[in-house]
Amino acid sequence: MDTISPCHFVIFGATGNLTTIKLLPALYHLERAGRLADALEFIALARRDWSQDDWAEHVQLALQSKLGEAFDGVIAARLIDRFTYVRGDYSQPEAYQALMEVLSRPKSGVCENIIFYLAIRPADFLNVVTHLHNAGFSGKVARHRIVVEKPFGEDLESARMLNMQLHTHFDEEQIYRIDHYLGKETVQNLIVFRFANSLIEPIWNRNYIDHVQITVAEDKGIDSRAGYFDSSGALKDMLQNHMMQLLTVMAMEPPATLDADALQDEKVKVLRSIRTIPREAVNSYAIRAQYSAGTVGNEEAVAYREEENVADDSTTETYVAAKFYIDNWRWKGVPFYLRTGKRLQEKMTSIFIRFKHPPQQLFQNTSLQNIEPNWIVLAIQPHECMHIELHAKEPGLDMNTRRIDLKAPYRDEGEASLDAYETLLLDIIDGDRSLFIRFDEVEWAWQVVDPILRHWAVADSYVHTYPAGSWGPDEATRLFDSDDQNWRNQIEQA
Ligand code: BG6
Repeated sequence: MDTISPCHFVIFGATGNLTTIKLLPALYHLERAGRLADALEFIALARRDWSQDDWAEHVQLALQSKLGEAFDGVIAARLIDRFTYVRGDYSQPEAYQALMEVLSRPKSGVCENIIFYLAIRPADFLNVVTHLHNAGFSGKVARHRIVVEKPFGEDLESARMLNMQLHTHFDEEQIYRIDHYLGKETVQNLIVFRFANSLIEPIWNRNYIDHVQITVAEDKGIDSRAGYFDSSGALKDMLQNHMMQLLTVMAMEPPATLDADALQDEKVKVLRSIRTIPREAVNSYAIRAQYSAGTVGNEEAVAYREEENVADDSTTETYVAAKFYIDNWRWKGVPFYLRTGKRLQEKMTSIFIRFKHPPQQLFQNTSLQNIEPNWIVLAIQPHECMHIELHAKEPGLDMNTRRIDLKAPYRDEGEASLDAYETLLLDIIDGDRSLFIRFDEVEWAWQVVDPILRHWAVADSYVHTYPAGSWGPDEATRLFDSDDQNWRNQIEQA
């Protein structure tokens, strides 16, 4: 799609969590940076019986609480001024009539490009799209766009069905599937780190790399999201999407260009090369677990089954660890270990790359014989940095070694840190799809996790437990291929 300058940006679920916590602050930052075109108008659609003033007050409070001292009332007022609040229940046709009324009297001319951002439950996507079509917002005619959040479907089959249904009203290039991890600057930096440094590319393969670990650890629990999370679980909530994206960016071949299709083609190739997990061997490739009561930081945390609105016999996993092999020329034989969990010891998303031992054991009969191999650590969040661990001779008369750590923070002091949504919202507005997920990516990612999902759905495979505040269940170590591999929990080793 050509670069477009849309006039209307409609947010469904405008009073919901996602809008309040992510979208409004990101729009505020874009307003502050002068990146929102004058002709851009927002329409907030929600069920609450609110006036325009109520909405304005809500936005103001939401921004104040998120931004704290950085809040600037003048910028907030500029943003609020772009909004029209429309009261409506998106499951009812009347909401779309109300929407149509607002959209047919734009402040700045009639607009053929409308963005419909569905900040709502995935289960309602189809309902909204059908109503949009019936109300005359036909995507295929007017080149409108819809934006949907993950998870896209609940498994391979439902994702295909949902896609087919969306495609009756919108073409693929009009559907923006968000995975907000791709909006994180440190994730985009992986592409730069890999392909802008000729030092890295020659060693980025099975000849030098022993294994890769990707950890997405969260210290928080499920907050008030039991309704969604308990029917989803960590595998569908995190691993099938965010973690698969990290894996593909880490493992893909250099794309021909940085345009959307070239990037997505390479990511799909990685997903297609992932070895299918044999049904009878799922237990040696993946383990699931749930947190029991414990202490996270200084706070007592209840067990998952004690959380509000979670059944006391729930078997939903709050932790998953899995092993994948990418059977292609570059990665054959290199295990990729992925794990994610809620209520772990701390928030930390990092990629740990361990290199092989040097081919010649030159230091066999010295104290150096057991030296740890080199590591590269790419820390995504909340620490944003890169570490390369090497060995050097310790100064002195003896042949001793010490580890040296080359550290590079991603940001210099004072450089502003943005959340992922600023970039993504701007890309949607500009019609740039390179950081969004094409359907075949979704499809292949479901294909990768499908054997695990199926096994867990029918088999009595055990749900392990781990105390809140720990690093997960001890059993997760059994995924490792060799005795000298283990989960790494720290960016910087002691
Ligand atoms: C969301 C998941 O997509 O990502 C949440 O639904 C999770 O369960 C969140 O907490 C993590 O995002 P971030 O940006 O805080 O790592």
